[in-house]
Amino acid sequence: MTNNEFTTGRPGRRMKAVVIPEFGGADVLTAAEVDVPEPGPGQVAIDVAYAGANFAEILYRQGLADVPLPFVPGIEVSGHIRALGDGVEGLAVGQPVAALTIVDSGGYAEVVVTAAELVAPLDAHPRLGLDLAAALPSNSTTAHLVLSQVARLQPGERVLVHAAAGGVGSQLGQVARRLGAGRIVGTVGSPAKAESARAFGYDEVIPRDQVAGAGEFDVVVDMVGGPARRAGLDALAPMGRLIVMGNASGADDVGLSANELWLSGKTVSGFNLAAFSAAFPAAAGRALRHVVAAAADGGLRVRVAELPLDRAAEAHRRIESGTTTGKLVLKVAGTEI
Ligand SMILES: NC(=O)c1ccc[n+]([C@@H]2O[C@H](COP(=O)([O-])OP(=O)(O)OC[C@H]3O[C@@H](n4cnc5c(N)ncnc54)[C@H](OP(=O)(O)O)[C@@H]3O)[C@@H](O)[C@H]2O)c1
Repeated sequence: MTNNEFTTGRPGRRMKAVVIPEFGGADVLTAAEVDVPEPGPGQVAIDVAYAGANFAEILYRQGLADVPLPFVPGIEVSGHIRALGDGVEGLAVGQPVAALTIVDSGGYAEVVVTAAELVAPLDAHPRLGLDLAAALPSNSTTAHLVLSQVARLQPGERVLVHAAAGGVGSQLGQVARRLGAGRIVGTVGSPAKAESARAFGYDEVIPRDQVAGAGEFDVVVDMVGGPARRAGLDALAPMGRLIVMGNASGADDVGLSANELWLSGKTVSGFNLAAFSAAFPAAAGRALRHVVAAAADGGLRVRVAELPLDRAAEAHRRIESGTTTGKLVLKVAGTEI
């Protein structure tokens, strides 16, 4: 990464951050000095310990979202509350927290600001490490919301999850189990990932091109797109629900016929945590606190690998290669960039 200076907020105290000055490949990630953000009304500032590294940040970096340049990426963090904005109650300076920073973004930095509603206090969970806490806000919260609120999964229902060994895939199988699903099947793109997906509690793990013939499902969760999406729709039982929540393969969009849905009695829904958190921050925060408590009780497991913040570009390359399993977090506190 190159080093640079940017002014991204109010002039004042400066901090280290990783900045995206232009859209492009992992090389655009730039170590920089930027202004320390101050919390506005209803917000908190957090001294960041760890920032989760996500597929979403690749998409932001590539310019697929409408984000003004330059910006600090990073949709989730753990750390300690540094300052409270006006009107914030029930949180305290110095408190350990996990937080979604997905609405305002900026987790790849020493300090981030986010809505107080999107914060989960960790003091009741002293055994939950800050590295693990940074791995929960995006993928675990998404898995919980997708299956409980969007798919409205019922006990005994059959679930198929694509990319089952990935960050969000490894959470979806476990959440499905907690919600009482019957048969839980995961797909993987390569045999090397099957063991990893099984370790996250899937009943069966199948190659992604073998969904036809794997039976019928009440719920299919697709974040891969392309042929996986079409195969998922075809595998739905009557009244089954396909939840579309990503396009990791980069495939062209799949045309879906409304008449086909009518005639087959199937449903297709979409979910996006950024849009949900912006529209329903209180509900997003409740879901975050729910999964934090579940992870603290050992009811949700995450395999966490760690890199220092100055290797954010390497984290992006690893995620883009599609070879990672579980979750990558970036160590921010104590890292020189
Ligand atoms: N809608 C939301 O709110 C939301 C929230 C979280 C995540 N997501 C989406 O869910 C997807 C997975 O996110 P994640 O954090 O779980 O990422 P991840 O851990 O990197 O998992 C992505 C997985 O997608 C599969 N994949 C298939 N084609 C790929 C390709 N061309 N390049 C890279 N990966 C490919 C790979 O699994 P195989 O090797 O098994 O093919 C890979 O492990 C992303 O599309 C992300 O945007 C959406």
